[in-house]
Amino acid sequence: MKPERILGLGTDLVEIDRIQDSYDRFGDRFLEKIFHPSEIHYARSQARPSIPLAARFAAKEATSKAFGTGIGASLPWLGMEIGRHPSGEPFLLFHQEGADLAQQRGVTRTLLSLTHTRTHSAATVILIGS
Ligand SMILES: CC(C)(COP(=O)(O)OP(=O)(O)OC[C@H]1O[C@@H](n2cnc3c(N)ncnc32)[C@H](O)[C@@H]1OP(=O)(O)O)[C@@H](O)C(=O)NCCC(=O)NCCS
Repeated sequence: MKPERILGLGTDLVEIDRIQDSYDRFGDRFLEKIFHPSEIHYARSQARPSIPLAARFAAKEATSKAFGTGIGASLPWLGMEIGRHPSGEPFLLFHQEGADLAQQRGVTRTLLSLTHTRTHSAATVILIGS
């Protein structure tokens, strides 16, 4: 069996107020462009939805940095989804173009960590392959 190796590392920090402002300006159109229904559903179950939304936004930007692509045609917002284990631990899923990119790069698993303060949310992503 080939040993695993780290293929990429990304981090991002997001101002929670910026996410709230985008929602106030563009409403559900903004949410649906960036987030999967499961992500919106989880955020809406929380006291301040803009906090988990900002963390998920940060996770997607961090993933795009780990790949080195940025967000775009090869890795669109909806090509990534942040899930949550019953323990609270987050995980990353790839869809469509995101899944194609992950497969091309040989990514077999990922690590994701999120954090928040009153004003900011941040995420770190590691891509692992063999
Ligand atoms: C790659 C991306 C996520 C960077 O995010 P950002 O918010 O512009 O910038 P940040 O301050 O978080 O990060 C900047 C750092 O990212 C790193 N970075 C830039 N491009 C990168 C890439 N292709 N791969 C990895 N890291 C990259 C650099 O180290 C940069 O620091 P530097 O300017 O000091 O060199 C961004 O280019 C992107 O694709 N954003 C999507 C934007 C978008 O569609 N917004 C619309 C919202 S609806």
